[in-house]
Amino acid sequence: MADVVLQADAITAGYNRVAAIRDFSLTVERGEVIALLGPNGAGKTTSLLSMVGLIDLMGGSVTALGREVTSRRTTSLVRAGLMLVPDDRGVFADLTVREHFRMARAKPSKTREQFVLDRFPALRNLQSRKAGLLSGGEQQMLAIGKALLAEPKILLIDEMSLGLAPIIVQEMLPGIRDLAKDEGIAVVLVEQHVALALSVSDRAIVLNHGRIVLEGSAAQLLKEQGRVESAYFGANEFADTAHESLPA
Ligand SMILES: Nc1ncnc2c1ncn2[C@@H]1O[C@H](COP(=O)(O)OP(=O)(O)O)[C@@H](O)[C@H]1O
Ligand SMILES: [Mg+2]
Repeated sequence: MADVVLQADAITAGYNRVAAIRDFSLTVERGEVIALLGPNGAGKTTSLLSMVGLIDLMGGSVTALGREVTSRRTTSLVRAGLMLVPDDRGVFADLTVREHFRMARAKPSKTREQFVLDRFPALRNLQSRKAGLLSGGEQQMLAIGKALLAEPKILLIDEMSLGLAPIIVQEMLPGIRDLAKDEGIAVVLVEQHVALALSVSDRAIVLNHGRIVLEGSAAQLLKEQGRVESAYFGANEFADTAHESLPA
C-alpha cells in the first residue's frame, strides 16, 4: 500500500452536529481515478470537504500525503498538493484567464504554464478573456488548468460539469484520466454523468443518504449499470438508520 496518498477511515461528518455522511471510507492510490457517485443530497460534497479539512469530523480520520487532515492543516496540505476544485469551479467572473493563472501559484513557472496550456490548448487564445465570458466548457478547463498549475498530487473534483451538456463532459473527462495516469495524480471525481464517469475511472463508490451503498471496479459497474441505478433509486433497503434528518 506504499502508493496510497489519500485515506478516509470511517469518517462521520455533517452540519450543526447532524451527520450528513456516516462511516465513509476510501483509499486512493497515486494515479487512480475514483468516481464518487450518488443522487443529490447523498453526501458527495460533504465527503470531499471532509477530506480536505473544510468541515470538522464527528468521527473517523483522514490521512492525505502521509499527514492527518485537520482544519488547522488545510493550508499546508494544499501547499503539499491536496487540491479541491469546488462545484462552482472556483473561478472569478471578473478576472481574466491570465489573472487566474497568475493567482494559482505563489511562484510563477513558465514551464508549468506551458504544460497546462498544452493540455488545454483552447485556453491559449483566451488569456485576456474574463472568466465570466467563457463558455461552461472553457470555464471547466480553466478550473482544472488552474488547479494543475499548482502541481497537485491529489485532485478532488466536485461536479465540475454541473449544468454542462454531456458532450462537453465527454470531451473533458478523458483528459482528466490521462492526467491522473501521466502525472500520477490521485483523482476523486464527483460526477452526475454516471456512465461517462465510470468510463474514465478505475473504481467507483455510490453514496446514498450519507452512506456508501455500492462500490467496485468501474469497468464492472459499467457492465452492471442496473446495480448502480438501484443504488441511486432503490436505496431504502440500505438506508435504514442512515440519516434521521433527511426528508423521507
Ligand atoms: N451547509 C450546510 N448546512 C446544513 N446542511 C447541509 C449543508 N450542506 C449540505 N447539507 C446537507 O447535507 C446533506 C449532504 O449534502 P451534500 O454533501 O451537499 O450532498 P451532494 O453533494 O451529494 O449533493 C444533505 O442533506 C444536505 O442538505
Ligand atoms: Mg454536491
